[in-house]
Amino acid sequence: MSKFVILITGTPCVGKTSVALLLAAKLNAIYVNLTEFATKNNLVIGADERRSGSLIVNEVRLRKVVSKLINEAGDKSVVIDGHYAASVVPKKHVTHTFVLRRDPVELRGFMEKAGFSGNKLWENLASEILDVCLVDALNAYGREKVCEINATGKSVEDTVEDILAILNGSKKCRVGVVDWLGKLESEGRLNEYLRV
Ligand SMILES: Nc1ncnc2c1ncn2[C@@H]1O[C@H](COP(=O)(O)OP(=O)(O)O)[C@@H](O)[C@H]1O
Ligand SMILES: [Mg+2]
Repeated sequence: MSKFVILITGTPCVGKTSVALLLAAKLNAIYVNLTEFATKNNLVIGADERRSGSLIVNEVRLRKVVSKLINEAGDKSVVIDGHYAASVVPKKHVTHTFVLRRDPVELRGFMEKAGFSGNKLWENLASEILDVCLVDALNAYGREKVCEINATGKSVEDTVEDILAILNGSKKCRVGVVDWLGKLESEGRLNEYLRV
């Protein structure tokens, strides 16, 4: 099989880590969690209090160590898990970026279960509704390397099967597969969900 360098991105709690771990196991690939990787390599330089304490990393250095890891992986595929992947994995290395999407109503439940509340919850839900991760991925890697996966109502296994089907060419890579704004609007829930 050819070498894949795959990014799994998406809003917090969408299911990135669950999917990336299973995908890496199925591909016999190296799994990299960007947050853990940045911490281990002493590249965390602070926490952004206005952004609900999300970590600030030395992106220039992180790009270098991620590139090194991909080169040293040789023929092995690499699966990279992280919502700021778009800014730190150089385009030339990346074969596929999968942006996981989840209906905001379901995502809110996942976030609440993970202990998110207040600003942190509403800011992250707004990011999902407004396609922030998708736009970041498209800006960084272009349409030819970005596939959107609607994980709503699916098991981790089913989502990984969708990704494998795209990798082996039996399913098409697409963007524009969800419209949360339109859906929430038609359900009369937009004001409830888009608070920031
Ligand atoms: N397909 C799924 N169905 C049900 N629960 C899920 C699914 N995917 C993830 N979860 C749960 O949702 C939470 C967030 O998942 P996680 O993979 O940590 O997301 P992320 O890495 O994007 O923050 C975890 O508790 C996880 O067990
Ligand atoms: Mg995670």
